[in-house]
Amino acid sequence: MATPSAPREQWGSKLGFILAAAGSAIGLGNIWKFPYVVGENGGSAFIIIYLLCTAIIGLPVLVGEILIGRTTQRNPVGAFRALSGSRFWAGVGGMGVAAGFLILSFYAVIAGWSVGYIYESFSGDLFKYADPTKAAVHFEELTHDVVWIIGYFGFFMILTMGLVYAGVQKGIERGSKIMMPVLFLLLIFVMIRGITMEGSGAGLEFLLKPDWSHVSGQTFLIALGQAFFTLSMGMGAMLTYGSYMSKKDSVPSSALQILLLDTAIALVAGIAIFTSVFATGLDAAAGPGLIFHTLPVVFMKMPGGEFFGPIFFILLSIAALTSAISLLEVITAYFVDEKGWTRHRAVIVFGSVTFLIGIPSALSFNVLSDTTIFGLNFFGLVDYLTANIMLPLGGLLIAVFIAYVWKFDKALIELKKGAERLFNKNPLLITLWQIFIKFFAPVLIFLVLLHSTGILDVLGL
Ligand code: TRP
Repeated sequence: MATPSAPREQWGSKLGFILAAAGSAIGLGNIWKFPYVVGENGGSAFIIIYLLCTAIIGLPVLVGEILIGRTTQRNPVGAFRALSGSRFWAGVGGMGVAAGFLILSFYAVIAGWSVGYIYESFSGDLFKYADPTKAAVHFEELTHDVVWIIGYFGFFMILTMGLVYAGVQKGIERGSKIMMPVLFLLLIFVMIRGITMEGSGAGLEFLLKPDWSHVSGQTFLIALGQAFFTLSMGMGAMLTYGSYMSKKDSVPSSALQILLLDTAIALVAGIAIFTSVFATGLDAAAGPGLIFHTLPVVFMKMPGGEFFGPIFFILLSIAALTSAISLLEVITAYFVDEKGWTRHRAVIVFGSVTFLIGIPSALSFNVLSDTTIFGLNFFGLVDYLTANIMLPLGGLLIAVFIAYVWKFDKALIELKKGAERLFNKNPLLITLWQIFIKFFAPVLIFLVLLHSTGILDVLGL
């Protein structure tokens, strides 16, 4: 293992860490994906199940992932190796680094659309269509344009690289401290606009009155997958951010704050979007196109839409940027810690490689749209492989690692550092974490994996 010449970087403050980690968690998963998944899966019934998943599996695994990072002060590969001395477990960390790479390569493509839509909404082009079918055609025209899609993708990658290049404190932390409050404000603004629209009540009802008729076994599994993606869990992003944390700061309370912020933002985004979608009489179950086809029409129909439209896409781009930097940071930390590279070199090399790997994803919406592997285009394949297989597998392995390889009692000694007061007051929390990390989390995640690999479907469950 190469010894880095300079001392390892650290967060400037606990708040800096929370905002950076919440910035990683809050992203396209909350604002783009959560609303359309809720729309497709029965509204609040889905939300209730999703909340249970984040509390029962999300929180214990998130605590564990951050703890591994803080204990070892290393990237995922170095962290697993340091705690186990095993090549297999170092390989598990390696799978995380690879997943980060792949996720960023398609995530930045969608983030690029969001940036492109800022321009579209300022130029007024976005608000020319009164009906969602026409807006969908416009969306297709844009994504069919190779120069448009690759141009904005590249532009977004350059922004991401710039922040990671500037370093943990000067880039990621400072950027998050400025961007996250702006994001919160803008989103609350858009939510108030939604609630105050005439007819918004139907949207609130959709979010508040559970319709259990849409719920099946699958719903639980979709909800759990969403919990992993939105909390940036299962591939070492939270581990890496945890590795810049001081042992004086409490892991459980930080994890809880990150989770609460992430959940709050998903709910606020849901309220903002469904109140306006229902108030303008559009389809809540429009699927992945909800934000890009339906919202422009919503903005066109709402009073003040020319103003709220650009704001919405600015906040979406900010959310995506603070998530993308956490993905690039994982690869960067690996090359800095393990290979002795400088941060600058790692960012330039791997930012560029990510861009190259992402090009087939970007082309999946135009030239390569008919090229499929296992029935999915390249974009769909990378998305499926990472979100549905690599993340849950990573989360399962993290829980198993803590409980049975590192061993619960040793992990507990580390967990108590910085959280003495919390555990003295609530010793029951220790038992709870033990039960969840040893049994519930691994077993439930295992079920998700069976589902995503289609084995349950084959068995007819
Ligand atoms: N959580 C982010 C979102 O909801 C995406 C993300 C960032 C992510 N880092 C991650 C997802 C690591 C999985 C793993 O948009």
